[in-house]
Amino acid sequence: MRHNMLVVGLILGVILVLSQVSESTHRLNLQIGPIIVGGKGKPPKGSPTTPPTLTPPPPSPTPPPGLKVGFYKGRCPNINVDVEANIATKVQQEFRKDPTILPALLRMQFHDCFIHGCDASILIKGSSSERTAGPNLSVRGYELIDTLKNVAEATCPDTVSCSDIIAIATKEVLKMGGGLGYAVETGRRDGLVSKAQDVDLPSPFASVSESISAFAAKNFSPEEMVILLGCHTVGISHCDFFEDRLYQGSSQFDENMDKDLREELKPVCPQNAGSDNFTFLDQNSESSNIVDNSFFQQIVKQRGILPIDQALANDPQTSGFVQQLAVNPNMFATRLTTVMVKLQALDVLTGNQGQIRKVCSKFN
Ligand code: HEM
Repeated sequence: MRHNMLVVGLILGVILVLSQVSESTHRLNLQIGPIIVGGKGKPPKGSPTTPPTLTPPPPSPTPPPGLKVGFYKGRCPNINVDVEANIATKVQQEFRKDPTILPALLRMQFHDCFIHGCDASILIKGSSSERTAGPNLSVRGYELIDTLKNVAEATCPDTVSCSDIIAIATKEVLKMGGGLGYAVETGRRDGLVSKAQDVDLPSPFASVSESISAFAAKNFSPEEMVILLGCHTVGISHCDFFEDRLYQGSSQFDENMDKDLREELKPVCPQNAGSDNFTFLDQNSESSNIVDNSFFQQIVKQRGILPIDQALANDPQTSGFVQQLAVNPNMFATRLTTVMVKLQALDVLTGNQGQIRKVCSKFN
């Protein structure tokens, strides 16, 4: 009798364990989805077989010394002036006139921070400054920064750095475009170096492994890279960067691209026509200028535009993150704010370093 009970107990235990294993596998599948392996998405040698999933959000990073929320409080001649609020109000007005300042500023922020840190080095005019480097030729928003600097100078002269203006404006447009608001840290100083030859940004044609290395060099993990690339939820790309994916016989032809998308894009970017046309990076036409997770949903459906964007969904090093972000809008919104704070704090100058420029496009 006792023996029989023991056997029954054992069998029940095994069934329970098996059902839990199957449930968690099922949950895992729901969350991660299938691994999509396309031509360019073949797992590189030595990479994990199961795509990694997002880790719990890290605690808010401690700001580098010299950066803090509300740095300018009490620093203007009239101590009651809230210069950051004045800049933000102007950004809101400008956004209502032209919502494409959202992608313009996001891209400018990234290109500035990745070269010599977030020091407004991208703004300097000159025959061989960063601004003249290939990847920066299509960066927009320079005039807007000048306008915002004028707003700052009007009530708080010689005090607000151009690098802080980029950071405040980027935070503001992100919120206006549907992202979560966050408290922007300020206290950056403007850099004294701006050379085209120093501009070394990741290429849109790079592999996922190469992009991971480029971001690792700036202390961003692969998952942070994926979240940052989610900024391609807004804005546009010119044909040069994706045309070759459309045409059979060209080196980058992507046979896995959604066929409808390919046919829609061919007239936009005729082969070898040197067209200056462009299309939205987020091919969900309802949200091409909205900060949401639909970019991830699109790349899961093989409707990415840039080669690197599509590769994120196909490469096992990043596909797990992409799948999770595609099904979880809140996760993208919250993680993006943390990673943006980290990007905006990258290699900043503070204290007595650098200078506060009088004119953002010129060293003093
Ligand atoms: C591997 C990294 C990245 C590569 C290779 C890349 C490449 C590109 C390319 C080629 C374009 C199209 C530019 C044009 O045709 O004018 C573009 C646009 C854009 N990128 Fe990225 N990008 C990367 C990361 C990022 C990050 C981290 C952000 C934001 C934090 C960002 C924000 C944007 C935005 C918003 C646009 C649209 C700009 C506009 O509409 O004017 N990108 N990117």
